Amino acid sequence: MTDEPTLREAADDSDFRIGAAIDPDALRSDPSYWRTASNEFNAVTPENALKMGPLRPSRDTYDFGDADAVVDFGDRNDMYVRGHVLVWHNQKPDWFQAWDYTDDQLREFLREHVHTVAGRYHGRIDAWDVVNEAVADDGSMRDTVWYDALGEDYLADAFRWADEVSDADLYYNDYGADAINEKSDAIYDLLERLLDRGAPIDGVGLQMHALGDHPDPDSVAENIRRFQDLGLDVQITEMDVAFHADDPPANPDKVQAEFYRDVIAACRDAGCDTVVTWGVHDASTWLRTFRDFSDRFTGDPLLFDDRYDEKPAYDAVKGALRD
Ligand code: G3I
Repeated sequence: MTDEPTLREAADDSDFRIGAAIDPDALRSDPSYWRTASNEFNAVTPENALKMGPLRPSRDTYDFGDADAVVDFGDRNDMYVRGHVLVWHNQKPDWFQAWDYTDDQLREFLREHVHTVAGRYHGRIDAWDVVNEAVADDGSMRDTVWYDALGEDYLADAFRWADEVSDADLYYNDYGADAINEKSDAIYDLLERLLDRGAPIDGVGLQMHALGDHPDPDSVAENIRRFQDLGLDVQITEMDVAFHADDPPANPDKVQAEFYRDVIAACRDAGCDTVVTWGVHDASTWLRTFRDFSDRFTGDPLLFDDRYDEKPAYDAVKGALRD
């Protein structure tokens, strides 16, 4: 027996949320997975199960089985639940083709989707990523099926539709915008425009996929503060820390731990209280299976290793929470 608190206890003691993205198959099949998730984290989000593709096997059916499993797990374990994601250009159903719809029909399709999914989890999901990755890497609006048909209006509409059926806090979520840069400038301008139009946006999610090039923590803190000055809450929503596979540092575990520590510290200094890591343990990271990412990046970006043992990054996060 040890009196050392778990990560979850350290987070609870600091009024902080430390979360993990969850794979429902692993939850069902691997006791070490769900024990680690429930003992060490006080927040969860389904990694894929709430996306439109996995949710909608055919035009007229929804399959909420996997999403319910993750939300139920969060409920039972008294965790904060982030819903990810209502409107995105990726992971749409295979049967869905934009050219089957007029623009008005697409708008109605999206409204029905947001109402059905956000409405189902009224009172059970605490925060929703309403729109994900609407801005391209150069700061222009991303050319998606939604933007192509509906223009910028689709964002304000999506937040309004979610607000009509959900009591969750509503977030805009994106990657590569963690620090002050061209893309986060563009997102800042976009959110300011949407807020001016009365869109019910509560916050912004900075994903923090630190893959190779890690943002400067001071700039991350400055970025968090400027969004807060717009009246928005800021959460770190998808954190993982990897290195270029062909050029890792000599001591990757140490560098990784220091970056986790610096981000948690920057977040807390700026008054942000939620960091979700993008997976429970290294064996379940998306980096090992996604496209050619396993060739491009090191594949152990999380707080627990393949055997669920605590890594230096785990101790660093706990230390940053107790400082
Ligand atoms: O489940 C199917 C399986 O049935 C099929 O046989 C197999 C063959 O391709 O694919 C499986 O689906 C994969 C799914 O992950 C579940 O493993 C998809 O191909 C794969 O594309 C999908 O990748 C997900 C990715 O989003 C899609 O863009 C990753 O798991 C997920 O971690 C990642 O998460 C995103 C966030 O939602 C948004 N921010 C970036 C983040 C990382 O890309």
